[in-house]
Amino acid sequence: MDDGAVKSEIAGVFDRSAATYEQVGPEFFAPMGRELARRAAPRAGERVLDVGCGRGHCLLPAAEAVGPDGAAVGVDLAPGMVAATAADARRRGLAQVTVRVGDAAAPEVEPGSCDVVTAGLVIFFLPDPEAALRAWARALRPGGRLALTTFTAMDPAYGAAMKAVSGFVPQVESAPTRPAAERFRTGESVTEALATTGFTAVRHEDVTFQTRFADLDEWWNWIWSHGGRDMLEKIPEDALDAARSAGNAAMEAARTPEDDLAIHTTVRYTTARLA
Ligand SMILES: C[S@@+](CC[C@H](N)C(=O)[O-])C[C@H]1O[C@@H](n2cnc3c(N)ncnc32)[C@H](O)[C@@H]1O
Repeated sequence: MDDGAVKSEIAGVFDRSAATYEQVGPEFFAPMGRELARRAAPRAGERVLDVGCGRGHCLLPAAEAVGPDGAAVGVDLAPGMVAATAADARRRGLAQVTVRVGDAAAPEVEPGSCDVVTAGLVIFFLPDPEAALRAWARALRPGGRLALTTFTAMDPAYGAAMKAVSGFVPQVESAPTRPAAERFRTGESVTEALATTGFTAVRHEDVTFQTRFADLDEWWNWIWSHGGRDMLEKIPEDALDAARSAGNAAMEAARTPEDDLAIHTTVRYTTARLA
C-alpha cells in the first residue's frame, strides 16, 4: 500500500469512529490526553499546535491553559474528528480553538509560529515519522516545546483478545501497513530521531492507566468506537460472532474480583525542546 492509500484508510477508520470515539464505555483517551497537555505545560497567551487532535483530548485542555489570549490549533486527517472537536470547543466557549483537516506530517502553519507542538498517539500512524518531526521542528520557534505520546505496553489480556479477533481477518487484509508503530516503540529510537531533528532535553516517562469495563459487551462496543474498528471492519459479517466469542474468551483473563474487567495500558510521554 502506498502512503496515500495508508493515509486514506486511516482517515476513513477514524472518520467512522469520530462520533463514538471516547463516548462509549469508560474513559481511555481522555486521561492520556489531559496528561499530555499537563506535561506540555502551555502558558497563558501561547500558541499550541496539536497534530492528530482526534476529539480534542489534549487540544481542549491545552486551549484552556493558553486562555483567550492564546491559540490552540488542531489538525486531523479525519473530517468527522475535526467537525466534532470544533463543535465541542464551541460548546465550551473556547474561541481560541481552531480545528482543521490536515496532515500531521505537514501542518500548514507559519514556520516558527508555535510555542508548543503536541502529538498524542499519532506518530505511529505516520508513514514517515522522521519527516513529521522535521515539520514540527519547523513549526516551533527556537526554544519551543514538543510533547508526544506512544503506546509502550498493552495489557496482556487485551493483546491476547485482539490477537484472537485478528485470526478472523482474511489473510490478504491482515498484512502490516504501519511499520512506524514498531520503530517508535522504544525510547531510544525516539530520542535518536529527535536529536537528528534539532531537539534537546529529551525526557521519557511511562505512565500506566487502568481502564475498567463493566462487562464484555461494553468492551466489544468500545473496540468499535476507536481505531480498533479497523480490524473489526475487515472481518466478514458472518464471522463476527465467532470473532467476538474468541475475543471475549481471552478477555476473561482481565476479570477482577469485583466481576468487571480491568486492563492496564502504558503510555510513554516524551518531551523535548527545540535547540
Ligand atoms: C489514536 S487517535 C488520537 C487522537 C488524540 N490525539 C487523542 O490523544 O485522543 C489518532 C488520531 O490521529 C489522526 N491521524 C492519523 N494519521 C494522521 C495524519 N497523517 N494526519 C493527521 N491526523 C492523523 C486520526 O484521524 C485520529 O484522530
